[in-house]
Amino acid sequence: MAPSYKIACIGAGYVGGPTMSMIALNCPDIEVVVLDINEERIKAWNSEQLPIYEPGLEEVVRQCRGRNLFFSSDTTKHLAEADMIFVSVNTPTKTSGIGAGKAADLTYWEGAARMIAAVATTPKIVVEKSTVPVKTAEAISKVLKRNCTDPSVTFEILSNPEFLAEGTAIEDLRMPDRVLIGGGDSEAGQAAIKQLAWVYAHWIPQERILTTNLWSAELAKLTANAMLAQRISSINSISALCEATGADVQQVARAIGMDSRIGSKFMNTSVGFGGSCFQKDILNLCYVCEGVGLKEVADYWMKVVTMNDYQKQRFVERVISAMFNTVARKRLAIFGFAFKKDTGDTRETPAIDVCRGLLADGAKCVVYDPKVTPVQVFRDLSAPKFEWDRPHGWGKSERHITENVQVVADPYACAEGAHAICVLTEWDEFKSYDYQRLYDSMVKPAFIFDGRNVLDHEALRSIGFIVYALGKPL
Ligand code: NAD
Ligand code: UGA
Repeated sequence: MAPSYKIACIGAGYVGGPTMSMIALNCPDIEVVVLDINEERIKAWNSEQLPIYEPGLEEVVRQCRGRNLFFSSDTTKHLAEADMIFVSVNTPTKTSGIGAGKAADLTYWEGAARMIAAVATTPKIVVEKSTVPVKTAEAISKVLKRNCTDPSVTFEILSNPEFLAEGTAIEDLRMPDRVLIGGGDSEAGQAAIKQLAWVYAHWIPQERILTTNLWSAELAKLTANAMLAQRISSINSISALCEATGADVQQVARAIGMDSRIGSKFMNTSVGFGGSCFQKDILNLCYVCEGVGLKEVADYWMKVVTMNDYQKQRFVERVISAMFNTVARKRLAIFGFAFKKDTGDTRETPAIDVCRGLLADGAKCVVYDPKVTPVQVFRDLSAPKFEWDRPHGWGKSERHITENVQVVADPYACAEGAHAICVLTEWDEFKSYDYQRLYDSMVKPAFIFDGRNVLDHEALRSIGFIVYALGKPL
């Protein structure tokens, strides 16, 4: 029997693609169409080479693509036909005008709302999947209602923020800690909540489906990301203190993590958190706070970002000072460019700031990452710098990048002739390399700077490496 209920999703990105694939997999009675203005992306979703790498995603897509899961650029047809429309477009930080560097840029969201309004002739439930500032639903409601030519069409807006993490998206979607649905108090609002809860109830246990009012759901998403990022900045701040005192940050993390009130997750010290969301969502939270006159609250959260920038800068300074105060003309092997393991995503990866810092001191960076393409590395390193984004300055030309950066497809080629290896992503494969072979091919003294604390430092030292690890005694 053909599905009688139709869901459309605007935005076929890291969230829209996997989320809708999981809905299609678990709801054979629902037709799911994922839409994007980027035709290349849609083509890729319809091909054997999906546009994003995510463990387990290919199998899910293979099972339901063409059955009840479709990827299309025909927004008019599918938005008009849909009963429920998810909006999962990008909501980056504004780069110019009022609020530049902090406020969320809702241009894409507004564009999506206008697209819906232009074609709607039947009632629609519009679901905020993107992460947005509190009260966005109110603004979107205005755009929808005032632009729809058919006054009899009704729109119910729900907030259903997504909590998946990249690299574990499929697992997170299969069994999320919770699904959060915020909606209006009216009868229609409550009915819309029930309809979305029915979709998730196809595979999520009832007790994990949490319903709230709209504003709580919107704010819970920003708060969750802010608190997760805060944990990382907290442990990173302690890593600096450990280096100064002889304490070991992993031992400290273990000791405090056994306190059930604190917990052990998200306590890995790192060269800094990256990814498209943590920084942007904290900045957004700060902007919202400032907008309602809560300057102290904004200042408090801003420190999480400040500490993250400090950690990246501290790593660069550590590399330079350890290597006799200069890395000029030294070949540095960069192990890992993605913002975390198991993804090819480089948005806001700490590797960008670290490489820029090293290049600014004259280094030659040779990058190896199992999933990031050379084109992406060059694009990231030469992208324009925004004042608000990179506090430490970046004025290198594209030519400087092409002359001093190399991207290779093999870790051994990466380290050959290098003075140091810098581990910037925690890819599992980094643990199993033949470090004796790497050492033998490097310039001596050979350094390793473990920005993720994933390697066996004692074993490396016995080979002859000089090892620096975050928050660890030398
Ligand atoms: P993305 O950039 O990967 O995807 C967004 C897509 O929306 C792009 O392909 C873009 O072309 C498309 N788009 C923009 N405007 C459009 C329009 N008017 N019509 C059709 N398509 C349009 O972004 P993402 O990483 O999937 O993030 C989407 C949202 O989800 C953001 O608000 C983000 O904060 C939030 N989020 C992301 C993650 C994550 O892990 N990436 C997790 C949770 C929440
Ligand atoms: C994060 C959140 O974990 C998701 O719940 C949320 O949905 C998502 O942001 C979002 O809104 O976009 P993601 O950024 O994909 O997910 O990945 P995380 O696992 O949270 O890692 C973020 C960054 O923190 C990475 O650079 C990672 O290496 C770093 N990290 C993480 C640490 O440095 N230490 C840790 O202990 C954990």
